[in-house]
Amino acid sequence: MASLLLHHNKPLCALFFLLFMIYHDTAMAILTFKPIKANCASTKYTENSTFSTNLKDLFSILKAKSSSSISINQTSGKAPDTTFGLYFCTGDLSQDNCQACIETAITDITESCRSSKQGVIWYDYCELRYSDTNFFGVPDTNGFSMINPNGNTSSSRPVEVVSQLVKEAPLVHPLMFKTQALISESLYALAQCSSDLTSQGCSDCLTTILANIKACCTGAKGWRYLAPSCWIRYEATPFLQNLNGTSTQITQSYCSSNDFPSNSVANAIPSLLSMLTQKAPAMAGFYYTSVRANKNINLYGLALCRGDLQNKEDDCQSCLKDASESIVEDCPKKTQAIEWYEKCFVRYSNQRFFGAVNGDSRTLCGLEQVSADADEATEKLAMSLINDAVNNPMFVRAGKVVISNSLSSYVLVQCTRDLSGQGCRQCLQTGMDKVSSECKLTNGWRYLSGSCTLRYETFAFFDTALISTTPALQPNSA
Ligand SMILES: *[C@@H]1O[C@H](CO)[C@@H](O)[C@H](O)[C@H]1NC(C)=O
Ligand SMILES: *[C@@H]1O[C@H](CO)[C@@H](O)[C@H](O)[C@H]1NC(C)=O
Ligand SMILES: *[C@@H]1O[C@H](CO)[C@@H](O)[C@H](O)[C@H]1NC(C)=O
Ligand SMILES: *[C@@H]1O[C@H](CO)[C@@H](O)[C@H](O)[C@H]1NC(C)=O
Repeated sequence: MASLLLHHNKPLCALFFLLFMIYHDTAMAILTFKPIKANCASTKYTENSTFSTNLKDLFSILKAKSSSSISINQTSGKAPDTTFGLYFCTGDLSQDNCQACIETAITDITESCRSSKQGVIWYDYCELRYSDTNFFGVPDTNGFSMINPNGNTSSSRPVEVVSQLVKEAPLVHPLMFKTQALISESLYALAQCSSDLTSQGCSDCLTTILANIKACCTGAKGWRYLAPSCWIRYEATPFLQNLNGTSTQITQSYCSSNDFPSNSVANAIPSLLSMLTQKAPAMAGFYYTSVRANKNINLYGLALCRGDLQNKEDDCQSCLKDASESIVEDCPKKTQAIEWYEKCFVRYSNQRFFGAVNGDSRTLCGLEQVSADADEATEKLAMSLINDAVNNPMFVRAGKVVISNSLSSYVLVQCTRDLSGQGCRQCLQTGMDKVSSECKLTNGWRYLSGSCTLRYETFAFFDTALISTTPALQPNSA
């Protein structure tokens, strides 16, 4: 097979950059599968040969298996025309999405590797491979690296974490797949091998590609190495799915482009944050204040904990503590910044912003599709929660709507309490407009701004006791 070792391949970087941006910031309705790369051998088979029939059979077997298996190796036909093939989806992918990825891969590889006796095609979430020779059990590390060109890091943590996964994944049977999601460190990683390898083969494969990535790419904030027999990947933003909700745990930051001209002003940021972290938990999860940084400059800040943490001072405090540490790391010396965490956010600025609706926002969409009915019911619930929240002194409402026996939507909307009711409505309505247009038919969404947050999931992501404190709603009526 043509061996291609691509380090810092330019078009690939550009493609990766594009993909990164898509899932990082904007809508992604259903998982769509675009090939990252295909390698094809130059040796050809002839049309209507026994081999070509066997290959068709192999593809139809693999396609059928993809409705029930995440990772498989398979043969078709008798020697000397036997075809050998395999696919794997990342172990966190749902079966439906795996099937969709493999079906796409079969179509794409047939096109890309037309009449080639060997081929392999890679996607973000799956790989498909076939050959006229028996490659089963042989670790093939002839892959390629990709980096996220959008950021650099000097941290050794990604390599440490992935090294651990390289040790553990081979022992996890049957998938040989292992992930790590460290939300507070903004570190997400996976390691996986194809199913034909033994544990030892998997270990050899992963160890080799880890050495490859160390030789080229670990200065980047986001990298991966995809070989025919195994993968490793690290990102600073979540890309994992279906890990009991960990994929839905986020940290996001917004940093202004301006730096404080002097260190002495920037040094006032931690004292502002520490005041917010101390006061907000006891003030039902919200506090805003300002500190004097020097003769001419004040710093303004606020902190908000998620509505269900209003009476949970410890949870609120520990979230704010983490967010305060991250905001300083993510936005060093910036004049304005926001750090959103799973259960809270903090914000500061050198401009007085209290009472004004903030538009520095992020929209995040779920990765799976729901029906139009579910979408409509969820939107209806969200709108009624918004109407209620703006009239509620705590500016928060949560609710649930049952879509079917197995599907419910949970929504929480909340504003910072420096706003007026009208400001709160304006913020939430802006968010609603964003998620309605960008996250059509998705199984979750969030709008994060410095003045309000909206969130929908198909599981209870907040303490549902909060629903009973919202009596104006009849949330259980479908
Ligand atoms: C392969 O078989 C099909 C259908 O039997 C036929 O139409 C086609 O011409 C054949 N191709 C070659 C290259 O023999
Ligand atoms: C990352 O570092 C490389 C050189 O090591 C440099 O060319 C690139 O511009 C840096 N990227 C960012 C986003 O800082
Ligand atoms: C898959 O690969 C293993 C290990 O090489 C091999 O023993 C097994 O027979 C293969 N499975 C199929 C269905 O060909
Ligand atoms: C998900 O949660 C279930 C039950 O809470 C647990 O048994 C399972 O191991 C968890 N899976 C992962 C990937 O953490």
